[in-house]
Amino acid sequence: MALSKFTLCLGAIALLSSTLCFAHPGFGFGFGWGGGSGGSTGGGGGYSSLFPQFYQFTCPQVDEIILSVLEPTIARNPRMAASLLRLHFHDCFAQGCDASVLLDNGASIVSEKRSFPNINSLRGFEVIDEIKEKLEEACPGVVSCADVVALAARGSVMLSGGPNWELPLGRRDSKTASVSLSNNNIPPPNSTIQNLITLFQRQGLNEVDLVALSGGHTIGVARCFTFKQRLYNQNGNNQPDETLERTYSNELRSMCPPSGGDNNITPLDLASPARFDNAYFKLILWGKGLLTSDEVLLTGRVRKTMELVKAYADDEALFFEQFAKSMVKMGNLGPLTGSNGEVRKNCRRVN
Ligand code: HEM
Repeated sequence: MALSKFTLCLGAIALLSSTLCFAHPGFGFGFGWGGGSGGSTGGGGGYSSLFPQFYQFTCPQVDEIILSVLEPTIARNPRMAASLLRLHFHDCFAQGCDASVLLDNGASIVSEKRSFPNINSLRGFEVIDEIKEKLEEACPGVVSCADVVALAARGSVMLSGGPNWELPLGRRDSKTASVSLSNNNIPPPNSTIQNLITLFQRQGLNEVDLVALSGGHTIGVARCFTFKQRLYNQNGNNQPDETLERTYSNELRSMCPPSGGDNNITPLDLASPARFDNAYFKLILWGKGLLTSDEVLLTGRVRKTMELVKAYADDEALFFEQFAKSMVKMGNLGPLTGSNGEVRKNCRRVN
């Protein structure tokens, strides 16, 4: 299915570097992911000192090496593209795009891998390791893990049939991780629209970024655990979510029984789970957005997000263009540059 798309992209190493440039820098349920009062990454979506040619002289093969790992991996396992895209999002929302999410527990590190949004959920770490090993062979100590994550996310979108864009580079890697920022800054799936807007605003991202980036749910899957309350008890009155389309709701119930089955998975975009397209927005219009956070973009009574869902459902090119721009903005959150941080040798631990 999605394989034909992947084949189309096979000769696309050159594409990854710069051509199609859309963008410029510029649970328990009823809950939240967990406790705590929030915090800021100090991100802001503004311009940063990152630039696309950062590795032009120090590691010109970087794009080629990224693709040499991504192509076979995603061809074998299309979901990995989704997992790598999500990894970048979860990295950037906790402490900025600094590869903090990749750190394992260590003497001074409590790993973000154990936060509510990440535990038993975030994946793709071994693909990042494989890329990093190849990069260390070709250009030792040069390409940061944070840039590897950003490049892997972009490559994954492109190899799934989505847009490509010029990606500013030069991020450095953190020497710290923050479970609390990961818990408090990454929105839970049962978020209200206000919740989503607030958590994105905290990062310097606006409603346009929220809707466009939510379009990342055009690929990948979610566990029953993350949307089950919609099927049985959305508002504490033992009724399903009335915004969820009936047939779809019944299908989901057979996949996710009232008790057990929490780790069963189902596509976020049931129409084309491995293809990066605008079907996600069409499904929302039909009441077939999987997570509460997907459906409230339309039903949350915020005119701006509602209009954007319709616009992206109508016009895939418009979605692609904005997605690319918002990815650049998200990728610019709180990067470490200059002499801050380090370039890790092994993405799982500080040097
Ligand atoms: C707007 C707020 C968001 C919420 C509440 C949210 C929530 C979730 C949840 C609950 C899952 C399923 C996790 C699991 O079952 O273990 C998921 C999966 C995913 N998310 Fe999000 N997400 C949001 C935004 C984003 C953004 C901004 C992106 C990327 C640009 C993204 C990309 C993905 C992808 C690709 C998957 C599938 C991963 C896989 O199959 O491994 N999400 N998201």
